[in-house]
Amino acid sequence: VTPTLARTREELATALGGPAGRGRRAVVMTMGALHAGHVSLVARARELADQVVVTIFVNPLQFAPTEDLSRYPRDLEGDLAQLTGPGLLGDGDVVFAPTPDVMYPDGDPVVRVSAGAIGDVLEGASRPGHLDGVLTVVLKLIHLTQPDVALFGEKDAQQLAAVRRMVRDLDVPVEVVGAPLVRDPDGLALSSRNAYLSPDERARALSLSRSLKAGRAAAPHGAAAVRAAVAAELGDVDVDYVALVDPTTFTEVGDGATGAALLLLAARVGTTRLIDNTALRLR
Ligand code: PAJ
Repeated sequence: VTPTLARTREELATALGGPAGRGRRAVVMTMGALHAGHVSLVARARELADQVVVTIFVNPLQFAPTEDLSRYPRDLEGDLAQLTGPGLLGDGDVVFAPTPDVMYPDGDPVVRVSAGAIGDVLEGASRPGHLDGVLTVVLKLIHLTQPDVALFGEKDAQQLAAVRRMVRDLDVPVEVVGAPLVRDPDGLALSSRNAYLSPDERARALSLSRSLKAGRAAAPHGAAAVRAAVAAELGDVDVDYVALVDPTTFTEVGDGATGAALLLLAARVGTTRLIDNTALRLR
């Protein structure tokens, strides 16, 4: 039982059109260096569709010149091993792993998707153009793989919200499904970038999930209590932002806010930038 590995547009088109190509199709887009968080999305996709397509592409468009594009972990062999098996990929499924020149044959695209206001705050403020680069490649991969459903992790909550908004605003014919954030037993949110952490940094990184937990525990006492609880728990890390926002617009909620909110943070531990978030209900 093996999925088809497609490296070019032609190979992808052939693989999609095979015997299993007529049922419901799900796509899971990744940048590789796969871990249990990615695999959980694939398992969910398997439940939702007859044919599952996993894309593996480190998208240069979403990295700033100062970021870790060249050192981003790449391990296609290891990725394929993790994707194959019961409840995951098998015959008729597809792994699409293009090179940059397959995705961008004319060089950097001239026409791009703009994430708008949601692309200017939080991740977008720290990483200008990042969400535009994400949405541009996501739309291209949707066109190339023609899925009925596309799955995204709540780990990247702002990315998920931006994709949902693009699909609504541009009438992209796909159903977007969000999947829960997967953590290590000690609470650290799984990320391909965790591979950069030294043992000491990894221990310090635990204050991210600990502070979110404290924030969530304070939610019955309101937004100000949440913000105070997070600040009290955040340890020896270089905080980029802590935000308590409306889950759809990503604008900060006021101290008197009630109802559903998202608590998000980004911090640098050593040279590694990590993000984490949790949903909560205020008051
Ligand atoms: P990447 O960081 O590889 O993540 C691929 C998908 O896996 C995303 O939907 C992300 O939210 C999800 N994911 C990552 N870690 C997770 C975790 N701990 N629990 C649950 N889901 C998790 O996100 C990207 O790649 C790129 O921006 C991409 C969408 C592929 C566009 O290039």
